Amino acid sequence: MPPADASTSPHLSERIMSAHTTALAPQADCLARVLEIARDYIASRADRPVFPAASLDDLRSALGGPLSDDPIDPAAVVDALARSADPGLVTTTGPRYFGFVTGGALPAAAAAEWLVTAWDQNAGLNVMSPAAAVVEEVAAAWLRPLLGLPRTASVGFVSGCGMANATALAAARHELLRRCGWDVEARGLNGSPPIHLFVGDEVHVSVLAALRLLGFGAGQAVRIAADEQGRMRPDALAAALDGIGGPVIVCAQSGNVNTGAFDPLDEIVPIVKRCGGWLHVDGAFGLWAAASARLRHHTRGVELADSWATDAHKWLNVPYDSGLVFVAHPAAHRAATSMSAAYLLHADGEARDPMDWTPEASRRARGFAVYAALRSLGRRGLEELVDRCCRLARAFADRLRREPAIQILNDVVLNQVLVRVVPERGDADAATREAVARIQAERVCWLGGTRWHGMDAMRISVSNWSTSDDDVERSAASIVRAAREVACTR
Ligand SMILES: Cc1ncc(COP(=O)(O)O)c(C=O)c1O
Repeated sequence: MPPADASTSPHLSERIMSAHTTALAPQADCLARVLEIARDYIASRADRPVFPAASLDDLRSALGGPLSDDPIDPAAVVDALARSADPGLVTTTGPRYFGFVTGGALPAAAAAEWLVTAWDQNAGLNVMSPAAAVVEEVAAAWLRPLLGLPRTASVGFVSGCGMANATALAAARHELLRRCGWDVEARGLNGSPPIHLFVGDEVHVSVLAALRLLGFGAGQAVRIAADEQGRMRPDALAAALDGIGGPVIVCAQSGNVNTGAFDPLDEIVPIVKRCGGWLHVDGAFGLWAAASARLRHHTRGVELADSWATDAHKWLNVPYDSGLVFVAHPAAHRAATSMSAAYLLHADGEARDPMDWTPEASRRARGFAVYAALRSLGRRGLEELVDRCCRLARAFADRLRREPAIQILNDVVLNQVLVRVVPERGDADAATREAVARIQAERVCWLGGTRWHGMDAMRISVSNWSTSDDDVERSAASIVRAAREVACTR
């Protein structure tokens, strides 16, 4: 007797159906429950305390305990997880979170991330997900002109700006040593021609971490003096590069993490070009100024750099994690990051293999959320988002400046405000630290402390798409309250 045709066997199809329903039902229950929880969370985020009150012990006892021997129903797992984690969540997507430089997950971007999870695409190779590869291509083509970068720059979708800095500097290392006849990917740095490294005195620590990772050593970078806003001084750079022979990398910055200030790229570019150097721009959030007609002048000259790093999870308001690296020399970018093996089936011709442009192979399909954010905003929406955050930052500064016990330390040129409490008597550093603690304890808004030019300060970063004038007013009132309380206890 011939074997039964597997595709028509009733037994088999029943088995498949039954496997299907048992696999689908719990997943559908789970997703329905998650939708409900997420809806409630999103609806509450403007009103819930910005910072949680739960202690570490509370969270450990809610979330901890031994792993059960037997499986637990997925919907019950998700339900309990959400209940236990909720008291420890920071409302970073809410409109009064001004800590670090934090975006707020635009609706389309957050929803696209859910799809990415359901689809679970591996964005390593074109053959693993043609859609993920093409979405990156399309988003990259939108991003380059928005950020004022060359149309031919290569683009990688990485985990954040720190990784974007590392990737760009790996491309720089490749290209400069290639020009000296040295294959750094094969031979490493031992015995290679030395590369001279220059960073601004206000360099972001992630650039130094990248230099460490790449084997340059953070301590090898010469620090170039910065002005009172933290901008690299072109005269100091010119003096440092004078008479330098051999390969040179200069790391400039668009958007200082404290002041928001921009290094003057239009003056820095010719100085770096004169010595044949590679200019890298760390523009984690400041690069987005290029999307605004009012602010674009801050990035003048940016298109002439060799590489750029930025974040989508900051000002583009894409959920974590999402960074972007751009390189003006695609061959160098690819040589520094790509890998090959017989089983890694690279695309033929001009199709994009996303892993050619990032240090990682398998990874989340980050391009979808970037695509969704850009599509939902459009060019005008993005410009409006950037302009609005800057307007609100100025409104914050104007409101706080009216308070005698408060000083604004920076020129508010972008979305960052540096605030110091200066009581009539006593230590302003201690007063500022105490005010930060009071503001955080009140939980109307959240901001963090920093040091700026030897002074304690608090940092306000307005980066969230949903922040309103009213949120600024309520938050400024909380800051003023804290400053007054602290000033009168001195
Ligand atoms: C100027 C600058 N560069 C790099 C980074 C690092 O970005 P990420 O934390 O996304 O890696 C930041 C973070 O705030 C930054 O402000």
